Amino acid sequence: MRILSGIQPSGALHIGNYFGALRQFIDLQRENDAYYFVADYHALTSVRDADQLRAYTFDVMVTMLSLGLDPDRATLFVQSDVPETTELAWLLTTVTPMGWLQKCVSYKDKVEQGLSAEHGLFAYPVLQAADILLYDADLVPVGQDQKQHLEITRDIAERFNQVFGGGKEVFRLPKPHILESVAVVPGLDGRKMSKSYGNTIEIFDEPAAIKKKVKRIVTDSTPVEAPKNPETDSLYHLFKLFAAPDELAEVERRYREGGIGYGEVKTRLADAMIARFAPARERRAEWLAHPGRVEEVRAAAAERARATARRVLDRARRACGVG
Ligand code: ADP
Ligand code: TRP
Repeated sequence: MRILSGIQPSGALHIGNYFGALRQFIDLQRENDAYYFVADYHALTSVRDADQLRAYTFDVMVTMLSLGLDPDRATLFVQSDVPETTELAWLLTTVTPMGWLQKCVSYKDKVEQGLSAEHGLFAYPVLQAADILLYDADLVPVGQDQKQHLEITRDIAERFNQVFGGGKEVFRLPKPHILESVAVVPGLDGRKMSKSYGNTIEIFDEPAAIKKKVKRIVTDSTPVEAPKNPETDSLYHLFKLFAAPDELAEVERRYREGGIGYGEVKTRLADAMIARFAPARERRAEWLAHPGRVEEVRAAAAERARATARRVLDRARRACGVG
């Protein structure tokens, strides 16, 4: 199967990105033909400093590589290294009804958060559809918040096939891959962990910073001895993502019976987080010491990605009669 997904370089990646997206990227690279990219064209809707965008783009590449994305198995590229993307986005935009974009919650959310209501933000889902359709993707691993964008992608593909394909399939219809257990990772304040809420723990935060942030996770005021409901506690939810099964069973039992304090859970969570990412932290230091190697990965992947993209773009151009 062809797997494809992207992640925006709009800041350091956090553990919501890890469980919602990156971990699936790594799992799926083994038995599939995987394409992953750094969505720098998309990030332009929020990052407005060229040097900063370049630095974030590099950082996201390094983060993916450090976490175990294997450049010999997966094609790990940068979106703007394949300018065919923007051409396809235009072709798709000609068959995209305004109403579909108007109902997109991510646009409304971002404008509410203070981003200006620019056309790029409005047309963001069309560019995302181009990313996906350009590589004949079968499966797109993402977190829950991207579900609507995947639906629009399918709708646009179907409409293009209908309008220009004359019944023939120009684009393959992709499916989302969303793991329910990690669909929404909570942040320090209990809302969805997100850069835009300032409630994140970054994957590569220093151990001392991880400990400090974990202490800030919001809990209720149930005393140590009292029974607690693990299902409604975001600290427990985070702990569940990191704990070994026997440790989790013990903590769950003590929640339900009473006798465990949130302070203890926080200490164990911070330790588990630090331990989980320790090997990746070492690999990261290694990649950072050899930036030339990251550039080599990027260049080789761009070439592979572009060859695939070219074939699909030509198919789309022929179908609609340009060129
Ligand atoms: P942010 O909300 O921090 O800006 P992005 O929108 O850049 O994160 O998300 C990149 C990827 O990580 C997407 O696939 C998204 O669904 C996933 N993701 C982001 N935050 C979470 C979260 N809290 N829980 C699960 N998945 C998430
Ligand atoms: N919109 C996605 C996000 O904010 C990033 C993205 C861009 C993407 N293009 C994509 C994800 C294509 C999957 C497939 O997380």
